[in-house]
Amino acid sequence: MRAIVYRHGRSEPSLEEIRDPVVREGEVVVLLQAAALNHRDVWIMQGKYPGIQEGIIMGSDGAGLYNGSSLLINPNQNWGTDSNHQSSGYQILGMPANGTFAERIVLPEDRLVPTPGHLSAEEAAALPLGGLTAYRVLFRRCELTSTDKVCISGIGGGVALLAFQFALALGAEVWVTSSDPQKIAEAKKMGAAGGFRYTEQDWSKSMKKASGGFDVIVDSAGGKGFSNLVSMCKPGARIGIYGGTRGTIQNLSPQQIFWKQISILGSTMGSDSDFDEMVDFVDSHKIHPKIDSIYTLEEVADAFSRMEKGEQFGKIVLKIGAES
Ligand SMILES: NC(=O)c1ccc[n+]([C@@H]2O[C@H](COP(=O)([O-])OP(=O)(O)OC[C@H]3O[C@@H](n4cnc5c(N)ncnc54)[C@H](OP(=O)(O)O)[C@@H]3O)[C@@H](O)[C@H]2O)c1
Repeated sequence: MRAIVYRHGRSEPSLEEIRDPVVREGEVVVLLQAAALNHRDVWIMQGKYPGIQEGIIMGSDGAGLYNGSSLLINPNQNWGTDSNHQSSGYQILGMPANGTFAERIVLPEDRLVPTPGHLSAEEAAALPLGGLTAYRVLFRRCELTSTDKVCISGIGGGVALLAFQFALALGAEVWVTSSDPQKIAEAKKMGAAGGFRYTEQDWSKSMKKASGGFDVIVDSAGGKGFSNLVSMCKPGARIGIYGGTRGTIQNLSPQQIFWKQISILGSTMGSDSDFDEMVDFVDSHKIHPKIDSIYTLEEVADAFSRMEKGEQFGKIVLKIGAES
């Protein structure tokens, strides 16, 4: 079968013809129709992810066919029994275990969830990892309600856009930030109350003034700009962090955090029951994950390059073989 395999020392992911996977007891073969990129895949190619192994099929997100049914794949492996955090044996599909950037994948049957009927295979593939992360950080960690005013930072990101769509579906007032005015304009068309460029001088002061401040802020950047997010918090606000794209948080005033009774909440992926609830939420609100672009397996290097440059607005999808 054709697959995108990680090879040490190669700067670009490459398409290879490899042997079909072997099915062990309790496992099934899914014919993949589509897969999607996550920033994790870029970190792996750049050698910035723990536990990288040679010869592994990349990819955490996928949707396909098993027994004639359309299914999406839960990328969690061994979350464990505590809903508050993952177990020490937790892993994410696509490193170190073989992932979804291939024509076939072998998985335990309990990793498969029926695809909501309103989703295409490409939309289904765009959902799992980003949807799970967005759902947990918003609802489990930040306990978002429909009366909250929310800021989603870096709206072009795959997780950010899903969080944006989920918060809108709940009925919350949602504001966004981005480096790109075009992306802010797109978000406004989708229902954002407003947006500001985080690359501009004093943007957070203008955003706080325009919005009146936020009850919930969701961020994956961290870095120098994080203290701006704290300054935009209303008293009692919650900030959910699920990534650290811009590195170590700096210049954070403890006074600002304790005086305003702010909660800063870390969030990673989500439990299997979070995953099921997320898929139900998407189904009941008929949410279509925003797809930025669709590439073939042959074009995978272009797909990675688009994500590395941060050009995307939503999920970058790989279209694979199987037709429904
Ligand atoms: N903890 C977890 O379970 C988990 C799960 C998924 C992802 N993550 C992490 O979360 C991050 C995003 O992942 P992704 O797959 O959504 O990536 P992605 O699609 O590549 O999105 C990255 C986005 O980050 C935004 N960004 C960059 N610098 C920023 C800054 N200084 N302030 C605000 N936003 C900034 C950009 O938004 P604009 O283009 O709008 O400027 C960019 O589009 C990555 O670091 C990833 O490793 C963690």
